[in-house]
Amino acid sequence: MTRASLDKQPHEVAAMFDDVAARYDITNDVLSLGQTRLWRRAVARAVDARPGERVLDLAAGTGTSSQPFVAAGAYTVPCDFSLGMLKEGKKRLPWMPFTAGDATRLPFRDGVFDAVTISFGLRNVHDTDDALRELHRVTAPGGRIVICEFSHPTWAPFRTVYTEYLMRALPPVARAVSSSPDAYVYLAESIRAWPDQPALARHLQQAGWEKVAWRDLTGGVVALHRGVRT
Ligand SMILES: C[S@@+](CC[C@H](N)C(=O)[O-])C[C@H]1O[C@@H](n2cnc3c(N)ncnc32)[C@H](O)[C@@H]1O
Repeated sequence: MTRASLDKQPHEVAAMFDDVAARYDITNDVLSLGQTRLWRRAVARAVDARPGERVLDLAAGTGTSSQPFVAAGAYTVPCDFSLGMLKEGKKRLPWMPFTAGDATRLPFRDGVFDAVTISFGLRNVHDTDDALRELHRVTAPGGRIVICEFSHPTWAPFRTVYTEYLMRALPPVARAVSSSPDAYVYLAESIRAWPDQPALARHLQQAGWEKVAWRDLTGGVVALHRGVRT
């Protein structure tokens, strides 16, 4: 298939992730120069899942992003709309309740989760605002959201180097390690087109989230946004 266009047709995005599922985790580690593990630890600290809490990991893919919440003793539901990613996850982690669902029409009742989180997924969802409202709907009053997403480095010289990496170095590396290099050209382009930190915070507020704040990781290559449902 051709790479997903930036207007993110859902069937194209799902098919793109079906294609990369088998080598998804290893490719991530290589392309992020090992930073993925560090970012996942920061997400785990921000979510701060407690034993017995119900946690939704939306756009969970193969379930790698869900593992820290399981380790913390939370009842964790990985949800994704790529059946290829879900199958790969189920193969590796057969005991987990992998659930097929679209971020903009979640298959859960109102207020059932104590925490909802999404790592490297929101950028791919065809309607960001619908997804943020759906996440708000399924969160219990007092519950929290943590979004981990690529963002925009805050220091201008680093931003220039990083943009060069995205546009020049990443595609050839992706060709060497990925089963579907076009998906990683889409990755580079979609990161550049994504709202910056304050703009994403405004989207969260407009969707009803309160106490919205963010923290930059790796100089803003990634940002962790937080919010609370009151
Ligand atoms: C880059 S992967 C991230 C997977 C995982 N969260 C991680 O951190 O490794 C993005 C995932 O978002 C999923 N996704 C994109 N749009 C979606 C939507 N509308 N509903 C559910 N999942 C979606 C894709 O299928 C893909 O598995």
